[in-house]
Amino acid sequence: MCGIIGVIGNGPAAPLLVDGLKRLEYRGYDSAGIATIANGKIARRRSEGKIARLEAVLENEPLEGNVGIGHTRWATHGAPTTVNAHPHATDRVAIVHNGIIENFQRLRDELTAAGCRFETDTDTEVVAHLITRNLEDGMPPREATAAALERLEGAFALGILFTGEDGLIIGARRGSPLAIGYGDGEMFLGSDALALAPLTRRIAYLEEGDLVALTRDGAVVHDAAGRVAMREIHLTEQSGAAVGKGNYGHFMLKEIYEQPTVIGDTLSSFYHPVSGDVRLPELPFDLGRLPKITIAACGTAYYAGLIARYWLEKIARVPVDIDIASEFRYRDAPMPEGGLALFISQSGETADTLAALRFCRKQGQHIASLLNVAESTMARESDIVLRTLAGPEIGVCSTKAFTTQLVALACFTLACARARDAISHDEEARLSAARAEVPSRAAEVLNHDERLQELAREIARAETVIYIGRGTGFAIALEGALKLKEISYIHAEGFAAGELKHGPIALVDEGVPVVVIAPSDSLFEKTASNMEEVIARGAHVVFLSDAAGVAALGDRAATVIELPTVDPFVAPILYAIPVQLLAYHVAVIRGTDIDQPRNLAKSVTVE
Ligand code: M6R
Repeated sequence: MCGIIGVIGNGPAAPLLVDGLKRLEYRGYDSAGIATIANGKIARRRSEGKIARLEAVLENEPLEGNVGIGHTRWATHGAPTTVNAHPHATDRVAIVHNGIIENFQRLRDELTAAGCRFETDTDTEVVAHLITRNLEDGMPPREATAAALERLEGAFALGILFTGEDGLIIGARRGSPLAIGYGDGEMFLGSDALALAPLTRRIAYLEEGDLVALTRDGAVVHDAAGRVAMREIHLTEQSGAAVGKGNYGHFMLKEIYEQPTVIGDTLSSFYHPVSGDVRLPELPFDLGRLPKITIAACGTAYYAGLIARYWLEKIARVPVDIDIASEFRYRDAPMPEGGLALFISQSGETADTLAALRFCRKQGQHIASLLNVAESTMARESDIVLRTLAGPEIGVCSTKAFTTQLVALACFTLACARARDAISHDEEARLSAARAEVPSRAAEVLNHDERLQELAREIARAETVIYIGRGTGFAIALEGALKLKEISYIHAEGFAAGELKHGPIALVDEGVPVVVIAPSDSLFEKTASNMEEVIARGAHVVFLSDAAGVAALGDRAATVIELPTVDPFVAPILYAIPVQLLAYHVAVIRGTDIDQPRNLAKSVTVE
């Protein structure tokens, strides 16, 4: 989950590389660097920290050259220092890498014994030395690279420059994504189309095992078997325009406020405008006959899947298995013939989710993905793609991607329910009406922003914050805790309210904030009892409920946020919003880097 970029042009490469890196910063921001070929020699500039720091370095020490590579890093091997920043170089090559070389220690020991001197703690540097040794043995650049790659285990997307070659970049991919861009007498390499969009709209995606030689005249691709291969050129939908924050202080707040609109857009895309029925892409399988749906995803997307499980089981009466993607494939769970595997991901690039997808493909499952980024690896590897229309989500903290995932999953549930004859016409009409009012109700929830900002002053002083809920409210409790810890760095945990007494209630002490997710649904009374249990132990209860819930129990809580009264089916979509706003305001008070919190990256492309 680093970003890489390469440029072979006719003007200065450095400004284009830096601009591309800014667009890739969502992949990691521990350090950044670029290398160019100037007068036949490799020159590098690197810096720890964000790209702004690299720009400062370049201002003092500019880099010449029309060909270059760049990298923004999310550290895996070695601390995020300038020395460990890419590009890594020998006197013959400079290299940028996204992925992990799993056998790097063995290779490093072998190369060290053969006399190579290592400057960094990274796994990537072994690749630079392997290629260099092949060049020293007389191999040309492409062959030297191909032979080095044969020694590697793990995942990589690579961009490589060669001393004396000011018209060549070699790229290669295995496991990590890589795209090539076609310009006019210039060529580009990038981790995704977003990075390349301002340079060209003509993009081709490399396939697994591809190695590409880029010159100013074009690209020659060799596939995993070493044969020359053609890769189709697409016109990317990505806009070259930079996405701005508007009048908002952070992308996260802007994205929270966009929710009523993007929820509405996503909802409309799943509705037939005349019949009002749910409209899905053409399916190569019968929804009515699926023996089982298996869902895998990570982080917030996984919590969207948890909610979908409640809906699909209860409303569509279909058996659902769900797991965190990084665990799922190691269980080697038996999968029924003709089952559907559904992957949920904002980016469509998350390595763990992609690995689960490929595992399910091998198990003969139908593959569906619910994605926000249409031009992503998961989209290319799925039988059907359901889209969320959230627009670019820049803040690392997922907000509008989550609520639009829920909207899409609600529609998918109703389509399954109808296909399986699991729902009456009246019930379907009731749930469809509930779904249709979500955008306007979401806008109402935003009116609580000021109240949540006040509450944030108290929460910001806490050492631990607990979130509890039942049913779909349990998933919102998990999501609320993740939001808070991710951007405020306060320890937070989400629990199934009924599970508290089996251990977690020991964390509750005088004044510990407990956020109770309690729409007045069939589980309300039970959640209420759990709330009383924490009140009895001195907790500061923040009660999120609707008018009926507040009338029943509002006077028992220290803080009450009254949300609109909606059908319990769609309640989790609305209850996600206050927990996002609360986390945001706490993080503002604590002065953290909200859009790029420490140790994280927007897209996690390593396992
Ligand atoms: O791009 P994805 O939806 O696959 O990403 C999955 C998680 O990495 C992501 O949701 C993460 O948990 C968020 N940063 C949480 O806010």
